Amino acid sequence: MAESLIQVILDSTIFVLPLWFGNAIPTLLGGGPPIDGGRYWSDGKRILGDGKTIRGFWTGTIFGGVVGGLIAGLITLLSTVLPVPIYLDDNLILRLFYQDFLESGILFQFFSRINLRGFFSNSILLGFSTGLLMAFGGLIGDLIGSFIKRRSGIERGHPFIFLDQLGFLVLGMIFVYPLIPWDIEWILVQVPITFVVHIAANLFGYFTGIQDEPL
Ligand code: CTP
Ligand code: MG
Repeated sequence: MAESLIQVILDSTIFVLPLWFGNAIPTLLGGGPPIDGGRYWSDGKRILGDGKTIRGFWTGTIFGGVVGGLIAGLITLLSTVLPVPIYLDDNLILRLFYQDFLESGILFQFFSRINLRGFFSNSILLGFSTGLLMAFGGLIGDLIGSFIKRRSGIERGHPFIFLDQLGFLVLGMIFVYPLIPWDIEWILVQVPITFVVHIAANLFGYFTGIQDEPL
């Protein structure tokens, strides 16, 4: 792919925004009954712990969808009312509507086969589905992360560097792949970017009193 690094950074960052928001929102809106129902694993420790709640899971997933829909809507609007900004060339706009990736994805091919291809023609709906799928996968990754942490004897809320910052990214990207078969470059640049942004967001949350732990 003859894309410049800046283009890859910009594309992939816009692409993963629903994932970032979907992962952050449970900190603000989560709470209530834990997903594991308070149950313990055979090692005597909680399956997931009190940090993984049903409300956090669904609010994060839905918020991811809303962010995806908003981004798609915003780009549609920008592309019709404003002169095209320097990096938002035609290719990028097409990619933001996920079109050139979309058509090679297995979900698109399946929907086409059952004559539901029209579903993909609405960019806001497509952005919503993309964000929803990505955030859902990300939150599954977050649960897997907590499961691994509990099995490793790490208490709820204590950090596990790399797993905390990247588990949700990897799972979110895997889940969205059937819909949007992203470029390998995207994950390569997002591993360091998402890592740094996740830590920065947590430090911000800590110093503003939103959360009790710095990481
Ligand atoms: N949260 C939630 N439901 C989720 C994920 C997160 O309610 N599915 C909320 C919890 O209040 C949690 C906070 O968001 O404490 C921060 O999330 P995270 O750092 O992922 O959880 P931890 O409390 O650190 O727990 P763990 O050690 O299991 O990661
Ligand atoms: Mg944590």
